[in-house]
Amino acid sequence: MRIVMIGSGYVGLVSGACLADFGHHITCVDKSEAKIDALERGEVPIFEPGLDAIIEHNRAAGRLDFSKKLAAPVAAADAVFIAVGTPSRRGDGHADLSYVYAAAREIAAAVTGFTVVVTKSTVPVGTGDEIERIFREEFPSKDIAVVSNPEFLREGAAITDFKRPDRIVIGTEDARATEAMREVYRPLYLNEAPLYFCERRTSELIKYAANAFLAMKITFINEIADLCEQIGADVQKVAKGIGMDKRIGDKFLHAGPGYGGSCFPKDTLALVKTAQDYDSPMRLIETTVAINDNRKRAMGRKVITACGGSVRGKKIAVLGLTFKPNTDDMRDAPSITIVQALLDGGATVHAYDPEGMEASKGMLGPVIYGKDPYEIAEDSDAIVLVTEWDEFRALDFKRLKTTVKTPTIVDLRNVYSAAEVSRHGFSYFAVGKKS
Ligand code: UGA
Repeated sequence: MRIVMIGSGYVGLVSGACLADFGHHITCVDKSEAKIDALERGEVPIFEPGLDAIIEHNRAAGRLDFSKKLAAPVAAADAVFIAVGTPSRRGDGHADLSYVYAAAREIAAAVTGFTVVVTKSTVPVGTGDEIERIFREEFPSKDIAVVSNPEFLREGAAITDFKRPDRIVIGTEDARATEAMREVYRPLYLNEAPLYFCERRTSELIKYAANAFLAMKITFINEIADLCEQIGADVQKVAKGIGMDKRIGDKFLHAGPGYGGSCFPKDTLALVKTAQDYDSPMRLIETTVAINDNRKRAMGRKVITACGGSVRGKKIAVLGLTFKPNTDDMRDAPSITIVQALLDGGATVHAYDPEGMEASKGMLGPVIYGKDPYEIAEDSDAIVLVTEWDEFRALDFKRLKTTVKTPTIVDLRNVYSAAEVSRHGFSYFAVGKKS
């Protein structure tokens, strides 16, 4: 099949590269000339493990190319995926759909013959209907079916998530579009990944409901963690104990500094707005959003408490800045609020992140970057683990003990063992466990 991916950001590039790997011919389009020029030089603008190799392999095989203009590739395409950004609209929290509708109009002007237009971007319920209305009213001679096909991949694990999905949700009731989508995903379908067909509006809501549920699950365990600290229980054991019940499941029950990233904060907010618009408020999600916002600030206070109630004049070493490991994405990262709280409290903040330091510049205030955990820990009053990159899991505490000023570790991801850290003479503060 010939497929065009409009938008070569995170979702567009990963989906385009993986679909090319399945044997389809893919053109990834983006309006940013700098991005397409970089991709054509072989430079991948995002950090995602395994993506560079897949892009290189499929370009060499002639299955993947890039374009700044969509007209020519769209005219030859069987299916066109819209994977442009849907950021939160300033002021009201609704998803900003201007890029989606602009792309839809450009696509409609260019298509020839029957074409399936697929929304891969996360779009509020009813967006597919609106795109269809635009096509019908403004481009009545064009033969186009509009399909919803939300993406469930996680940054840092995107290739595996794309190739081994729990399910592929496809929202369409059009017979020709159903056939085309079966063909797009045939290699996965043969691998027994379930294709789940439903109405378009249902499919659009599935995406928001899934992200909101996961955000709620994380927020639930974070509140249990707070309670554990007060009553002397261990949140990791509580999570394990409840997770063994298949009705609950053991995933997304890691207590931490609050969820961040480009999806959960934006999608929970957009769902809240949609629900309010339809006079069907989702109080659980409204509360989830509020609790998570507060949590990031509370984590700053937790560090200050671990430092004896004040960080004024103290040096704090922050390990990890990105919203989670294996990405360079800083969007809505808890580190932003935590670092701000420490700076506001009068601390000097030194930070290290394996991939996120470049992206963090300008988001964090006057932070001093170091080249590794040991450099930033020198003379520090506390080491704070914010993002659980693998390289932080096996820190040499013996070495650290000789260089820090005050041996204090605040572990906001519960990766260390209290016994081991204490054995090396550190005071240890974790999440959801009594210190
Ligand atoms: C999330 C969803 O997991 C994907 O299924 C979805 O496709 C994606 O959003 C999207 O809508 O595009 P992502 O934001 O890449 O993926 O990352 P997650 O692994 O879900 O983590 C999100 C945040 O939750 C991170 O800040 C992470 O540290 C936090 N988290 C996650 C926890 O605090 N505890 C957990 O148990 C799990």
